[in-house]
Amino acid sequence: MDIIDKALQYLLASKVIVFPTETVYGLGADAENIEAVRKVYSIKGRPLSHPVILHLPKVDDLAYWASDIPDEAYKLADIFWPGPLTLVLKKSSNVPDIVTGGQNTVGIRCPSHPVAQEILIAFAKSKNHKKGALAAPSANMFGKISPTCSSHVYNEFNKEYLKEIFVVDGGVSNIGIESTIIDLSGIREGKKASVLRPGHITEMNIAKIIELESKDLSSNSIVVSGSLKSHYATITPLTVIDDTFFSKNLSVFAQKVDRLAVLYYGDKPINVEENIDLYYMSSDPIIYARHLYAMLRKIDSKKYSRIFVKDLPFLAEWDAIRDRLYKAAAGFN
Ligand code: TXA
Ligand code: MG
Repeated sequence: MDIIDKALQYLLASKVIVFPTETVYGLGADAENIEAVRKVYSIKGRPLSHPVILHLPKVDDLAYWASDIPDEAYKLADIFWPGPLTLVLKKSSNVPDIVTGGQNTVGIRCPSHPVAQEILIAFAKSKNHKKGALAAPSANMFGKISPTCSSHVYNEFNKEYLKEIFVVDGGVSNIGIESTIIDLSGIREGKKASVLRPGHITEMNIAKIIELESKDLSSNSIVVSGSLKSHYATITPLTVIDDTFFSKNLSVFAQKVDRLAVLYYGDKPINVEENIDLYYMSSDPIIYARHLYAMLRKIDSKKYSRIFVKDLPFLAEWDAIRDRLYKAAAGFN
């Protein structure tokens, strides 16, 4: 049977699928089927108060899922959909509370991955009202690293759950980090739009189209603080290290510990101790993002005592990656 038909069969039987998107893989269920969405939360180990994103095939269906939609939503969708941008809007009565964690807003995006598009189109067609959507968080355990290819998923979930899920393989996710999330839900009440999660589509890209809440745009504004919650976490303790540490103190530190992994870009450090394994990343943020999660998974499986990651350039195009790395490090501070 065709994989799209099989995915559809699962969705129509209140079951859960894993499907590829251009950002990361999603764990999806029929958004209007409360029992199916509940399964997504249990498989992921996610608290019911954390909302999940709705995935639609096309912008035309937006008004079925959201209400009081401001023009800004259509302006952004026109440029960035299908693609890695999630819009937070007032929810319509068609969205069950379980999708939004009881909030009156809903996060919606239209993924561009061709396999995601095929599944979403086929699923919407199968509904009487022709407006199906998948409620889908990233296909990883709550708080852990998102999967960027189907093989990551098999290591992620409990075996009993995996038996019940259909995993659709769509190759490696091209973008590699989760979508940019922008909150447009207060625009009708006079609030400006604001970015809730940085991503491949940057604040600057968005600010060219609509007005954004003014914020200190220098990248330092998102630098680690005690209040940062751990997320995107590895099992091995991960620390972001600055240039001085990277170039001067690595070896001193290495003498005190067991095996150490160092993720870096740019010039290779010299005179590295034997217990340090170096992992090279691109100096291009687009390519760095694409490979980051696969690299962290690989390093994490090798049971190092620590992972050190060289801090990133303080430039806006690195904001999304820095956000993920600092949150990965937050649990170990
Ligand atoms: O790229 C992505 O967005 C991926 C792929 C699968 O589409 N999905 C993803 O979902 O990253 P998840 O569940 O791992 O992250 C969704 C984020 C959460 O931080 C959640 O709090 C936020 O979106 N979110 C969802 N609905 C929201 C809402 N109504 N208001 C504010 N934040 C919301
Ligand atoms: Mg996630």
